[in-house]
Amino acid sequence: MPTEKGLRLVTRDAEGVDTAFRSDVLAGLAQVPKAIPARWFYDDAGSQLFEDITRLPEYYPTRAETEILTQRSADFAAMIGEGRAVVEFGSGSSVKTPLLLSAINTAAYVPLDIAGDFLRAAAADLAAKFPGLPVYPVEADFMRQVALPEEVAALPKLGFFPGSTIGNMVARTAVDLLRNMRETLGVGSQLLIGMDLIKDESVLVAAYDDAAGVTAQFNLNLIRRVNRELAGDIPIDELRHEARWNDDFARVEMHLVATRDIAFTVAGQRFTLAEGESIHTENSHKFDSRTSNMLLHAGGWEPVARWTDDEGRFSLLLAEARPNRMAP
Ligand code: AVI
Repeated sequence: MPTEKGLRLVTRDAEGVDTAFRSDVLAGLAQVPKAIPARWFYDDAGSQLFEDITRLPEYYPTRAETEILTQRSADFAAMIGEGRAVVEFGSGSSVKTPLLLSAINTAAYVPLDIAGDFLRAAAADLAAKFPGLPVYPVEADFMRQVALPEEVAALPKLGFFPGSTIGNMVARTAVDLLRNMRETLGVGSQLLIGMDLIKDESVLVAAYDDAAGVTAQFNLNLIRRVNRELAGDIPIDELRHEARWNDDFARVEMHLVATRDIAFTVAGQRFTLAEGESIHTENSHKFDSRTSNMLLHAGGWEPVARWTDDEGRFSLLLAEARPNRMAP
């Protein structure tokens, strides 16, 4: 599954602790305001909770994007044409891929993911669903430039990055990723990318603070993971999930807010949180047509088409990597 999740090769110390996890958490808890990168949500329990989120009544993005992939397939198929190799960034469980592969005539499918188990299972699943389609899984960190398999070198490429995972990155990281995608895919390639749209604050906040409390559990699971893997004693019952709309940055933020003054230890280091202070755990940026175009341009992609669902909640954009040319 995508996000700033599952994006790196794991290095463990002698005690089996993931060293990048420990250094991110210790650095994030030492700063003001406190923050832990969202990519650490996705251990097994977190990945399962995210799957549950995608089925919640309040969480519209998955349904809205699926609607676009289903109902606008003739439009994007006509613009994409035939014979491209589809390269999916952070393919994970690849749930939306069959919708794309059913709509267009594809020469090959290249799922890219760091999580090898997910990757191999998804690749086998896809190969069974689309007999005759060559599938070349690549275990790699898609945030960096990736060497694609020799078999697809001569084919035109279509990058696929659904889910508005780009929204979980701050602008600088998102632009770096888009630029690396351009390097990976090459000039002449296309990118089909999902971006969630700015909308009524109450709809956005409800999508990240559902009535059943699944998103709260997803958020708190990060602290369970810290306590379990980093010998932490953070009092989970003293933290409250909060989803906030930050209008200046056009993003929903997830926080864990202390309900009273607390002190705790993680990996032998002592930290405090005052009542009302929070650990910031996720940004989910939302876009309009101008900001999505701006982001694509900054990443070296020329937007060529944009589709939304009937209610205008979510957008799917098609962009092209054109040769660099002189700009005025
Ligand atoms: C994976 N990502 C696009 C989700 C989002 O909507 O930002 C993660 C998520 N966080 C809470 N709910 C869903």
